[in-house]
Amino acid sequence: MRLDKFICKSTELTRTEAKKLLKTGLVQVNGEVVKNGASQVHENNSITVEGQELTARQSRYIMFHKPVDTICSNVDEVYPSLFHFIDVDKAFDMHVAGRLDADTTGLVLITDDGRWSHNIISPKKSCVKTYRVWLRDAIDESVIETFKHGVQLQNEQGLTRPAVLEIIAEKEVLLSITEGKYHQVKRMFAAVRNKVVGLHREQVGEIKLDDELAQGQWRYLTQAEVLSVNS
Ligand code: URA
Repeated sequence: MRLDKFICKSTELTRTEAKKLLKTGLVQVNGEVVKNGASQVHENNSITVEGQELTARQSRYIMFHKPVDTICSNVDEVYPSLFHFIDVDKAFDMHVAGRLDADTTGLVLITDDGRWSHNIISPKKSCVKTYRVWLRDAIDESVIETFKHGVQLQNEQGLTRPAVLEIIAEKEVLLSITEGKYHQVKRMFAAVRNKVVGLHREQVGEIKLDDELAQGQWRYLTQAEVLSVNS
């Protein structure tokens, strides 16, 4: 991780304050003065400030039940950022592992461990995300095969990856996909001339949205949940 990030993770300092501290030359990595915040360090390096060893705070992993009319970025736009709901120290240092649209509800995973979130987000890792989808029109069974083979989305090269569609009711389905293109679920149903009228993420990999969590509530992931995300 970057040295300035490590300093933030192990002190109360903000990124700007960490950079100022680095300029003073008081920070050493394995006995050498380092002033560049972008230098890469490992948690097992000896990193000191005026001779005092820093220890990085443990990474944090959170499950959040996202309500409608909230956004997943750190910056408020038309709607408030979901980070307002996460009342932990330095919540804004964390990031979302796979964003949802403002009008989508359900499971959002939040962490400050970039390697862990990469395993969820990167299409190369094929992490399955399952959505409950409510549709404007009754679903035709033929869409199961269409999604299995992939559909062509507008302005995309190639077909979507094989997806699993399970029909729950005339206008309600479960869709499992392993990629996260912009508005992917809405665009997949648009490609078969239907329209998503409600969207809720239920599961990411092995991690299921906890039934006990009301919209707007969060909890830390259990160790088993964290470890279920393979590297
Ligand atoms: N696909 C969408 O279209 N929207 C989401 O929020 C998530 C997946």
